[in-house]
Amino acid sequence: MPPAADPRETALKSLTAWWADMGIEPDMPVSAPKPRPRVPEPAAKRSPPPAMQAAPATAAAARAAGFGEKAADEAEARKVAAKARTVAELKSAIESFDGSPLKRTARNTVFARGNPGSGLMIVGEAPGKDEDEQGEPFVGKSGQLLDRMFASIGLDRERDVYISNILNWRPPGNRNPTTEEIALALPFIERHIALVKPKLVVCVGGVSAQALLRASAGIMRLRGRWAEYSLKDQKFEPGEHIPALPIFHPAYLLRRPQEKKLAWRDLLMLQKRLEETG
Ligand code: URA
Repeated sequence: MPPAADPRETALKSLTAWWADMGIEPDMPVSAPKPRPRVPEPAAKRSPPPAMQAAPATAAAARAAGFGEKAADEAEARKVAAKARTVAELKSAIESFDGSPLKRTARNTVFARGNPGSGLMIVGEAPGKDEDEQGEPFVGKSGQLLDRMFASIGLDRERDVYISNILNWRPPGNRNPTTEEIALALPFIERHIALVKPKLVVCVGGVSAQALLRASAGIMRLRGRWAEYSLKDQKFEPGEHIPALPIFHPAYLLRRPQEKKLAWRDLLMLQKRLEETG
């Protein structure tokens, strides 16, 4: 029988392969991942499936059918979100909130995964098919790539990051969320961020970056630059903000692997900031 492979060697090989895959050249700055300190364990996940009902499969059809109209309005969503005093209360509040038509077509409410005490909160766009089925964010193909991206800078998916999305329910057929759907979801993710109060936020993809940063520029412009995430939430002092870094969505990188080089630069920026933040 051949001798068992040294697990450190295997890990190094997969990391090197990932780096090569990211387009990293020998003279590009590479800092070795540092082990991050242990932090408290994650909160419970999963939620029960709600009732099914057909909903428009495109953003335009959703608007035409009145799905985009402020179903429950934002003020109502903000009131519900503001009542939550803990992350667990917020999770229950979202699970019982019936103001979003998206909930009727979704199988699960997708809330968060990872470690809320890690200091690093990742916010994606919306659950896809796999996430809808499993009730957890970023568990499908793009989630696997996202995990590998973080692993390449030494971050463990369960221990070192806390992951959520702007939307808690999958838009039918993975269509883009409408402006109104995003507006209705914002009070919840904003409250979520306020309750977790991470040291840093990473906005994954254009929808997340534009929604959280109230930006109109596209992800090509926004990525790779630290921005300030500020929000009007009772938990924050006026003007208080959290540094936020927009990065490419892994689904985009799966379609355009040539952009991985830029994604790697952004990851190095994140790694540096994490080291400075401690
Ligand atoms: N894409 C996202 O933005 N979020 C997920 O949870 C899955 C795919």
